[in-house]
Amino acid sequence: MKCRRCGSFEGEVALKRHNATFCRNCFVVFFRRQVKRAISEFRMFTPKEKILVCVSGGKDSLVLWDVLLDLGFDADGMYIDLGIGDYSRESREKVLAFARLRKREPIIVDLSAEGMTIPEVTARLRKKACSLCGMIKRHHFNSAARKGGYDVVATGHNLDDEASRLLGNIIQWNVKYFPGQKPVLEETSSGMVRKVKPLVRVTEYETACYALIRGIDYMIYECPYSKGATSLAYKEALNMLEEEMPGTKARFLFGFLDGEFFREDEKEESEGRSCLVCGEPSFQEVCSYCRLKEEVARRSAAGRKGA
Ligand code: FES
Ligand code: ZN
Repeated sequence: MKCRRCGSFEGEVALKRHNATFCRNCFVVFFRRQVKRAISEFRMFTPKEKILVCVSGGKDSLVLWDVLLDLGFDADGMYIDLGIGDYSRESREKVLAFARLRKREPIIVDLSAEGMTIPEVTARLRKKACSLCGMIKRHHFNSAARKGGYDVVATGHNLDDEASRLLGNIIQWNVKYFPGQKPVLEETSSGMVRKVKPLVRVTEYETACYALIRGIDYMIYECPYSKGATSLAYKEALNMLEEEMPGTKARFLFGFLDGEFFREDEKEESEGRSCLVCGEPSFQEVCSYCRLKEEVARRSAAGRKGA
């Protein structure tokens, strides 16, 4: 196949939604341009700002870190060891190996140090892992970003993640979650650091192609707690539509982002105060993370007594 960009007959990556095929080199150029475009279009950050990349060891976050470094941004990676057996062990190794190759030192947070691994927390509270995990991660990334003087926290959410999340929110009519769909969540006076999603213009498939071409060794297994997640069903539904009508995911998400779905006063809702225990932003005197930690400790102590 002919590459649309350089005209060589080594076109390998076919992108229906762009009606184009690229050779490996030109695909890398194309991919980086899409990320660059998202960064400037949504005013995510400038070359002078310090970026903290949330890396999990999966393809999206490692690709994000890779692209940001290649685009010349000042980007450090941070990994949270969730303590999920082999899954965490292997993904941590992937992060460390990637960082070594790029001569970077990742920030590592180990949840076992505070008795807050995902298996421990879910066993104590009998609640779904994913929502607890999201909250725990948000807490640590925000806190590390503030302590380390980072201007912005970047996550590897891609077009598929964002479009499927939007579909889920619309199907459930979770209107209150609409503001969280923005590719940029501004910092708040209570101490939430700016959050950005620079991969919002690229699909999961494109990200996987980029990882393959660049030789990025990432964790291919999903988290064992993600089995049966509803987001996978929304992704599949969108993939079906995309197959029939290329470009559907992008039209769906960007049409929404361009629309009039956000009210100015919604912004203020995220403003709060500081947690009395850890100092992180909170709606109540003590933040949800510190309350969770206390609850886990209380139940562990009760468990020990009962044993
Ligand atoms: Fe958080 Fe699986 S990655 S529970
Ligand atoms: Zn707290």
